[in-house]
Amino acid sequence: MPIKARNTSSQRVNQIAPSGIRKFFDLLASMEGVISLGVGEPDFATPWHIREAAIYSLEKGQTMYTSNSGMPELRRELSRYLKDSYNLSYDPDTELLITVGVSEALDLTMRAILDPGDEVIMPDPHYVSYDACVILAGGSPIMVPTREESNFELSASDIKGRVSGKTKAILIGYPSNPTGAVMSKEKLARIAEIARRHKLLVISDEIYARLVYGVKHTCFATLPEMKESTILLGGFSKAYAMTGWRIGYAAASKEIIGAMTKIHQYTIMCAPTMAQVAAIEALKSGEPSVLEMVEDYNRRRLVMVKGLKDIGLPCFEPKGAFYAFPSIKGSGMTSEEFAEKLLREEKVAVVPGTAFGQCGEGYVRCCYATSLAEIEEALSRMGRFVKKHKK
Ligand SMILES: Cc1ncc(COP(=O)(O)O)c(C=O)c1O
Repeated sequence: MPIKARNTSSQRVNQIAPSGIRKFFDLLASMEGVISLGVGEPDFATPWHIREAAIYSLEKGQTMYTSNSGMPELRRELSRYLKDSYNLSYDPDTELLITVGVSEALDLTMRAILDPGDEVIMPDPHYVSYDACVILAGGSPIMVPTREESNFELSASDIKGRVSGKTKAILIGYPSNPTGAVMSKEKLARIAEIARRHKLLVISDEIYARLVYGVKHTCFATLPEMKESTILLGGFSKAYAMTGWRIGYAAASKEIIGAMTKIHQYTIMCAPTMAQVAAIEALKSGEPSVLEMVEDYNRRRLVMVKGLKDIGLPCFEPKGAFYAFPSIKGSGMTSEEFAEKLLREEKVAVVPGTAFGQCGEGYVRCCYATSLAEIEEALSRMGRFVKKHKK
């Protein structure tokens, strides 16, 4: 007998919608000649020496499981990297966990820290999996609007007004996907103050930490007394152009990493071995490639932002990640209408801002991790589109 439809999926799953990005890209997949400013991933292949290290490990037959927490050598290299970059000391044996991307680290974090009904405060707009991971772990996401007028920064006073007896954590992600905003050290320090006062955890997704332009990234855990209560998430996908390798990490107190590792060992066992080998090589010798790619993204960023402004789409200046988040309010269309019409009429794919939360209405996300020639062609098509639909 067939199972009744209402019984097949849990209430938690029913509460979340499929990612607004994926839904849109199903449509794109059926079309030809599309320029995609859509998916947020580097257009570079992983630097050759990193690929070669993984290939060699396979040739040597290094194909077994690793320790649940990740290869000791990788954790040692990561510990060194965090010390060199931020002067933070994480014990590689107890305070670091190698995960299947920041994606897994986000999921593990929520499941490790949340009890049913616990609240997690986060910015709106935000990366698509933040609220989903909280809901799937039985918690409630609490949105704090961020606005173009305040550079899409998260305001401490807005957070303060949303702290309740149920608040467990604040989730921040800077540089931001989708806005490209970075947070100044001063503004982050005010958030740290709230976390201290209310004894809240801070989950800091710093996957774009290396992709900043003309500004310095502040690692949240470096703020006074914040290391113990911060769960720092980072990864290799963006800085080293390694999205397909699926490798990331969490750095936090022994207690939190221990809790996350319990879930990780039963559900994942360990991150892929060859990807861990590649990550070791990335940390040891990847720096020149990172710097080269950042320089290239910066060139494209400048062309994209100026180009958007020139065609009549006002654009906040993104200082990090590889996204521009222009306002399309002047078109009179919703973000979704704009993105869908642009795709059908001009074959340019952008992501509606609403895929990232209600405050994304009136904006679209344009990823500039694509060639300059494609960016220029996309801008020319978008210019034609904006002109045609001018109110
Ligand atoms: C802000 C942010 N966090 C986390 C992720 C997940 O990255 P990964 O699982 O590839 O490490 C992404 C990917 O786009 C992202 O933009």
